[in-house]
Amino acid sequence: MEKSLKNQVALVTGASSGLGKSVAIYLARAGAKVAVNYHSDEEGAKDTVETIKKEGGEAFAHRADVGDEAEVEGMFEKVFDTYENLDILISNAGIQKDAPLDEMTLKDWELVIKTNLTGAFLCSRAAVRYFLKRGVVEGVSKSAGKVIFMSSVHQEIPWAGHINYAAAKGGLTEFMRTLSQEVANKLIRVNSVAPGAIKTAINEDVWKDEKQVKELLKLIPYNRLGEPEDVSEVVLWLASDKSEYVNGTTIFVDGGMSLYPGFIGNG
Ligand code: NAI
Ligand code: BGC
Repeated sequence: MEKSLKNQVALVTGASSGLGKSVAIYLARAGAKVAVNYHSDEEGAKDTVETIKKEGGEAFAHRADVGDEAEVEGMFEKVFDTYENLDILISNAGIQKDAPLDEMTLKDWELVIKTNLTGAFLCSRAAVRYFLKRGVVEGVSKSAGKVIFMSSVHQEIPWAGHINYAAAKGGLTEFMRTLSQEVANKLIRVNSVAPGAIKTAINEDVWKDEKQVKELLKLIPYNRLGEPEDVSEVVLWLASDKSEYVNGTTIFVDGGMSLYPGFIGNG
């Protein structure tokens, strides 16, 4: 693989499983040293680090709750202590706590907002503070830093029964666009990737059930579920200088899920 991220340091949150794990491995293959954040799955994080090391890359794991200010600050300190630098933040950690509004507890509302939206705020704030101070490093990247948020098709597609999640991802869209507007003139690039239905732990109850897969495929014009690698390819490109002029936008990686497939042959 081309070493498009040579001499760069990346922090990937929620990298003990699913998309975060795959993205961490992709960035390491492209030459980045990777800080692998995890919350509770230490084994999963160790496995991400071991996979990277086996392939000749550099990585370490660090536990932190992305919704906890002190733990996030501590995590960034650990990254700077270990690699003395940061070039790329992949703000990926996210959870679902599903229920219709009338049955949703305040606790589940707050937990999803805290993890999926406040987590993005705390992590990107720490990264941007550093990028602003450090600026562009000649010969490493044309940008002073790159922030990539893992959003979702549900930043746009309403999702009954998942109102906390949809609200967090919808909020993340304007967060991302506003942050990009704030810092683009400092050559800091901020963007989102919005996956559709990708086979990970977050939705395994669906993709492990044949009947539900059949129903789900009706919502995916390209007619297959996504794999983490489909998303990682795009994240890698967004993190590299190849996408230097891409700022404040969302790239959908969804097999056409956001194309209102219910209208195929209708309306
Ligand atoms: P996953 O469940 O495998 O990964 C979520 C990761 O976030 C886990 O590693 C988990 O430990 C971590 N995490 C949860 N709470 C945390 C916290 N407080 N602090 C730090 N880490 C925490 O699921 P997946 O699919 O890999 O999810 C990753 C991101 O992708 C999420 O933001 C999710 O909303 C998003 N996404 C996933 C899609 C899919 O179809 N799989 C589609 C669209 C978006
Ligand atoms: C959710 C998944 C879901 C996908 C498509 C994601 O944001 O986390 O559970 O399969 O959107 O609906």
